[in-house]
Amino acid sequence: MRILILGSGGREHALYRKIKESSKSERVFVWPGNGLVEKKDRVDAKPIEADFNALKEFIEREKIDFTVVGNETPLVNGVRDALKQKFPQHTVFGPDQNSAALEGSKAFADAFMVEAKIPHGESVVVQSLAEAKDKLQNSVFPLVIKADGLAAGKGVSIHNDVESAAQKLSEIFEKKIFGASGNRVLLQKFLHGVEASLFALCNGSEALLLPTARDYKRALTHDQGENTGGMGAYTPAHHLTNGQKKFVLQKIIQPVLEKFKYKGLLYVGLMVASEKDDGVAVVEFNVRWGDPETQSILPLLEGDLLEYLCWTDGGAADFPLLSSEGVKFIPYMRGAVVNVVISAKGYPANFKKSIPIVFPKIKDAKLHTIGAGIREENGKYFSTGGRIFSIVSYGKTKDEARENAYKYLKDFSVANSHSMPDLYWREDIAQGI
Ligand code: GLY
Repeated sequence: MRILILGSGGREHALYRKIKESSKSERVFVWPGNGLVEKKDRVDAKPIEADFNALKEFIEREKIDFTVVGNETPLVNGVRDALKQKFPQHTVFGPDQNSAALEGSKAFADAFMVEAKIPHGESVVVQSLAEAKDKLQNSVFPLVIKADGLAAGKGVSIHNDVESAAQKLSEIFEKKIFGASGNRVLLQKFLHGVEASLFALCNGSEALLLPTARDYKRALTHDQGENTGGMGAYTPAHHLTNGQKKFVLQKIIQPVLEKFKYKGLLYVGLMVASEKDDGVAVVEFNVRWGDPETQSILPLLEGDLLEYLCWTDGGAADFPLLSSEGVKFIPYMRGAVVNVVISAKGYPANFKKSIPIVFPKIKDAKLHTIGAGIREENGKYFSTGGRIFSIVSYGKTKDEARENAYKYLKDFSVANSHSMPDLYWREDIAQGI
């Protein structure tokens, strides 16, 4: 099978790495990929956003059988619908445009959750600064402010007082820091608890659960600083109980399947407030794999990822599954995977680009690197974004995996002493829950 993955982040690199292991994969391209993806497999072109003509030409020219859409922008802009219209037999991983609005518009997702009685952080949607400031007078703090549209993981902020919330709202409505994505804004109740990311592969009527991951969204160690796309993760995360998984499947994922005939990966971002089966609430829906969670989930999966992905778009389910109390799981190995994101200091606000990066030789087969905001030039590496790369570590236990990841980062610090003032990573990934 000839496969094309769209995207350039750690998520797409992790998918590329796992899909390449499949005996059925004959060729895997990543469009545009990043500097740690093999050069021969990178498509040297601008990322796909809303214009799909070049993509259709590439699919025809390279005889691609299967397009895996990694990132949200093309999905929200209808890439699945466009490819299915042009090539009805082409297999696509990712939901249609109507379903992708679950991520593309937080107000749309909120309205759906109200209608389907899905537990979530209650919100009010505001459309102007005056309206927002008026609502602030009756808001409870901490308060979450969310831009309605896509904002590359930067559209969510948490505020402890009216002044800081009002300043953010001015930036969104007046300075237009999120462009049109900030034309509507949600003022959302802050949910207390520990986050869990639960992913389900969906084929329009059925869902298969993947092992739960714990993402660390705040920029700085001990959950300080701004929200980011995620600074590290580990899998499996046992603070989401089996009873809660069953609850999420029945009360949250099933309504999505029914309403949207959802196909692809549904990312259910949860806040776990207690161990009760219903002690969970939705923080967000995403319509693609999480990043960095995917980097810690995929190394644990057993079986052929390519088969699981094809199943979501009409492929046969001739693979083994685990099942417990009506919940179907994709089998995964014992042990744990921890990944720590190495970022540019200052991310997600202002940070330096083109930081030279040197990779110390990895001597341990249980470690690997995954690229994100990084480019390669004649065998040398330079940062291009806020999240530069991750070290991914497998261990018999979470503690072992964590220890080895941070051991690698000690060697990395020595090899990159010249760049260290410009780099940052959290020191507490996978520590405790
Ligand atoms: N790690 C959060 C996300 O992928 O949206």
